[in-house]
Amino acid sequence: MSATPAQEFDVKDIKLAPEGKKRIEWAEREMPVLRLIRERFGAERSLAGLRLVACAHITTETANLARALKAGGADSLLIASNPLSTQDDVAASLVADWDIPVCAIKGESTDTYRRHVQAALDFRPDIIIDDGSDVVATLIKERPDQTKQIVGSTEETTTGIVRLRAMQAAGVLTFPSIAVNNAQTKHFFDNRYGTGQSTLDGIIRATNILLAGRNLVVVGYGWCGKGVALRSRGMGANVIVTEVDPIKAIEAVMDGFRVMTIAEAAPLGDIFVTVTGNRHVIDGQHFKVMRDGAIVCNSGHFDLELNLVALAEMSAEAVTVRPFVQEYKLNNSGNRVIVLGEGRLINLAAAEGHPASVMDMSFANQALSVEYLVKEKGKLEPGVHLLPPEVDQEIASLKLRALGLSIDTLTPEQTEYLGSWESGT
Ligand SMILES: NC(=O)c1ccc[n+]([C@@H]2O[C@H](COP(=O)([O-])OP(=O)(O)OC[C@H]3O[C@@H](n4cnc5c(N)ncnc54)[C@H](O)[C@@H]3O)[C@@H](O)[C@H]2O)c1
Repeated sequence: MSATPAQEFDVKDIKLAPEGKKRIEWAEREMPVLRLIRERFGAERSLAGLRLVACAHITTETANLARALKAGGADSLLIASNPLSTQDDVAASLVADWDIPVCAIKGESTDTYRRHVQAALDFRPDIIIDDGSDVVATLIKERPDQTKQIVGSTEETTTGIVRLRAMQAAGVLTFPSIAVNNAQTKHFFDNRYGTGQSTLDGIIRATNILLAGRNLVVVGYGWCGKGVALRSRGMGANVIVTEVDPIKAIEAVMDGFRVMTIAEAAPLGDIFVTVTGNRHVIDGQHFKVMRDGAIVCNSGHFDLELNLVALAEMSAEAVTVRPFVQEYKLNNSGNRVIVLGEGRLINLAAAEGHPASVMDMSFANQALSVEYLVKEKGKLEPGVHLLPPEVDQEIASLKLRALGLSIDTLTPEQTEYLGSWESGT
């Protein structure tokens, strides 16, 4: 790790900064809500003196969040939340142009990833912005004494919140954590439209495949799955959905998709996308019956949705045929199974993650969650919290205004009617 200009950093190549700066500024054009927050933070400086760690995908959009936090006075360190999602030019620019230290390198080993998590804890943060809960989980497991200093944390994604709730149930979560993912202005848009578009972007950039006319299997019909299914249909794919939740499965049926088990879908699919947040949802027995050339990828948070250990055991050695594209040849049939992005989030591994316009709202939630934790310091119970609903409304209103759109307001007569029960048929 190096020592200047930002305190300690570990990036691929600081000379990449000029390209990163241009791209960060390009993303900013699509992030008007976050820009307004940055300007207000700059005037109020309510985060002055705060030590903050952000474990996030190091993308152009995250850079704009980091700028907003710095404008508010926070002293931040950024690390990657996934070994494959870092944009090296962005990491370099944050260090060189904004003096914000970053420890993140695209393609870093798991050991380096963990070393960066330790560097984040060595930074002794008051607030942790987490994406997947690796920093919070490591803090609780390995440095319990340091938890006393934590004002609170924020969590970006569904999987991280599942982990936080498990920590809360186990009685080990000793500080408040804001479930940013659960804000409506986050998951309605980021998980659905962001993942919907960027997952297909990742698949297409990695393979240049035509989606029209292909059987595309979406495993998991939650917020992300709905977006992937919707956008895949828009590109002409024949979409099949698999689920374990009967309500989500019926929803997929009513949305016009074929629903079946993964065992039934495995021999039919040309392309498989997992978005469940669950483990081994495509397993050895499914790979075994896939068509020759079937493409398999994941857009869920961790790289364990595909059982790649089982796939490796039942295949000859995997061959890299293009960047982010590995071909496994099955011993039983000779069929080839193509795995994208090593089973890591394909939208961040092979593309650039969500478009800035959608991250504008997600990261407005992050910035306002940090401010909320500071304002409510010492008053929030330990455990998982939602941001107050007014914040969601405010973010949506600012976004509409930025888009140049106006909506109606209730008349006094309508407000009164909606609060009454006397008048009926
Ligand atoms: N790629 C990205 O940029 C991105 C963005 C947001 C969220 N995520 C991640 O994507 C994952 C899904 O997030 P979400 O918000 O859609 O969650 P969600 O809880 O809304 O949906 C997950 C769905 O998967 C289903 N499921 C669970 N196990 C299954 C199985 N074995 N087979 C089929 N379906 C199964 C659940 O019933 C649920 O409907 C999480 O890991 C989340 O952290 C990724």
